[in-house]
Amino acid sequence: MADHERRFDPSRYHVLVNPQRQARWDPPRFLRDLGVKAGQVVLDLGCGPGFWTLPLAELVGSTGEVWALDVSPEMLAVLQAHHPPAHVRAVQAELPDVPLADARMDLVWVAFVFHEVEPPRRLAEELRRVTRPGGRVLVLDWRPDGESSGGPPRSHRLWPDQVVGWLREAGFAQAEPIREYADDYLILAR
Ligand SMILES: C[S@@+](CC[C@H](N)C(=O)[O-])C[C@H]1O[C@@H](n2cnc3c(N)ncnc32)[C@H](O)[C@@H]1O
Repeated sequence: MADHERRFDPSRYHVLVNPQRQARWDPPRFLRDLGVKAGQVVLDLGCGPGFWTLPLAELVGSTGEVWALDVSPEMLAVLQAHHPPAHVRAVQAELPDVPLADARMDLVWVAFVFHEVEPPRRLAEELRRVTRPGGRVLVLDWRPDGESSGGPPRSHRLWPDQVVGWLREAGFAQAEPIREYADDYLILAR
């Protein structure tokens, strides 16, 4: 059963789109460095107000697609208020189940949401199912031993090894942290 206590409060959406966070991550550059390119089909899971969705849309261009999924109608309304281009397709759905076709995604982007979803094993299986052969999953999330006082409760956070374990069990041949930060980590699975 979903543990809704873990879920980000949508009335606090502004925390996700403020200038400090923009400066911290510089999403267009961060995503370009990770190989997001024109024509790709990307799924932004737990997209929230669109902090990553809009730069993903810019990078994949009109020959690509960005599927922006969130459980929260409030979050999706904030995304729509930014007038995303037509190749952004919003989907309201409750993870871990993903109501999209098998083997379609070049990239599944999972930023600061894995720790909010129960059960995580089922989420990993869905990631595997929707990723096309040769496609990638990138999981960005909070470290339980992170330095800053912000972010979700430490008891909700996941160790990189836990996430890697679920992704490998789900059938990804490769799953490993590719970047480690003071507060966060980035895992690549393929
Ligand atoms: C911390 S926010 C991160 C938003 C965005 N990825 C970002 O980094 O700016 C987590 C998001 O995941 C969504 N979420 C949490 N649990 C979910 C679930 N079970 N199904 C779908 N979305 C969920 C929340 O509504 C929220 O928008």
